[in-house]
Amino acid sequence: MAGLISERARATLERLYADDARQRAAGLPAAVRTRNLDRESGRFLAISVVATGARRIVEVGSSNGVSTIWLASGAARTGGTVTGTELLPERAGEANRNLAEAGLGRVAEVIPGDAGVTLRAFAEPIDLLFIDAEKEDYPAHFLAVVEKIRPGGLILADNVLSHDLSAYQSLLRERPDVETTTLPLERGIEVTVKLA
Ligand SMILES: C[S@@+](CC[C@H](N)C(=O)[O-])C[C@H]1O[C@@H](n2cnc3c(N)ncnc32)[C@H](O)[C@@H]1O
Repeated sequence: MAGLISERARATLERLYADDARQRAAGLPAAVRTRNLDRESGRFLAISVVATGARRIVEVGSSNGVSTIWLASGAARTGGTVTGTELLPERAGEANRNLAEAGLGRVAEVIPGDAGVTLRAFAEPIDLLFIDAEKEDYPAHFLAVVEKIRPGGLILADNVLSHDLSAYQSLLRERPDVETTTLPLERGIEVTVKLA
């Protein structure tokens, strides 16, 4: 395999980024767009998975699977798996079809429904959590899962500079069991390590 992202995954990502750009250019409201994360942030997700050796990876807000493909590309290297969650069942279906097209259907699965419900049943310690759902819900998503993240595990959250995520960022900074920093990459990624 040449590089971290296979040719198959790259081709699927390019098709999906073209769709996303068309939706934005047409001025469609956010509620009906796929709202995919940008390429460099996606690359950062894949790099984070490989660099930390993460094997149990969880995503809150998968949409049609663009970020899931980036995470899964890393997980294909570490021997890990990605459990994605997506509120809209049709989006979750699209995500799973896109993962299969990208050759990553055995590495990642997006489960339809509310992340809080899906992840309540998640028993394994989590190595890496990615949050990219509705911005006002980030604190609740974090609090619902934080006890399942292993010490040394990573929590990444997108859009902390493009949106007001000060409540989430303050919550992290008040907790002694995490250390956090804001990475000014594209729309802003909060990078947090669980200490204990
Ligand atoms: C910004 S988009 C995610 C984009 C995706 N991470 C990507 O890069 O391709 C946010 C998604 O979160 C989903 N969502 C919102 N609340 C959710 C919840 N409670 N559980 C699961 N998914 C949720 C929305 O339906 C939407 O598709």
